[in-house]
Amino acid sequence: MNIYLIGFMGTGKTTVGKLLAERLNKRFSDLDDLIVQKAEKSIADIFREDGEEEFRRLETEVLKTVNELDDYVIATGGGVLTTGGNYEIMKSNGVLITLAASPEAIYERLKNDNTRPLLVVDNVLDEIKRLLFERAPLYIKADYIVDTTERAVEEIVEEIIGYLND
Ligand code: S3P
Repeated sequence: MNIYLIGFMGTGKTTVGKLLAERLNKRFSDLDDLIVQKAEKSIADIFREDGEEEFRRLETEVLKTVNELDDYVIATGGGVLTTGGNYEIMKSNGVLITLAASPEAIYERLKNDNTRPLLVVDNVLDEIKRLLFERAPLYIKADYIVDTTERAVEEIVEEIIGYLND
């Protein structure tokens, strides 16, 4: 089985995932990194040159590949559940954990970041709120939800390990 970290952009999936993997003696993989390797270009370039649909196609392709592996902690991209079928793929060989955070905390973490094509808009905080609202029904499908707002990475990792050991 794998552990899939899902949740909105800027909730700390990669940072938490790396420490969680270390603590659990598992390997770590990041879906966005695998997509970049496969496409041989940045996520921003994939969105700009090939469109979101092509990005989502690549995302499902790499997801299927990593799902064949076992004992991995896998950080996914914030929109992974927007593609039908991806939830079922992950559930077939993994536990899903959502990292949650307030829109304001996400905004603070991402306001100077220009690597997220979906947040290249006039009012970033409004767009974060809109997307969070739209995606909330997807994120709550996870097996466990952990709040990351104003919490240290170690604390978040301990909470996840506590859930997994339960
Ligand atoms: C996306 C989140 C990003 C990346 C892409 C699309 C989304 O990943 O996959 O920009 O739709 O929320 P992170 O959640 O790691 O930022």
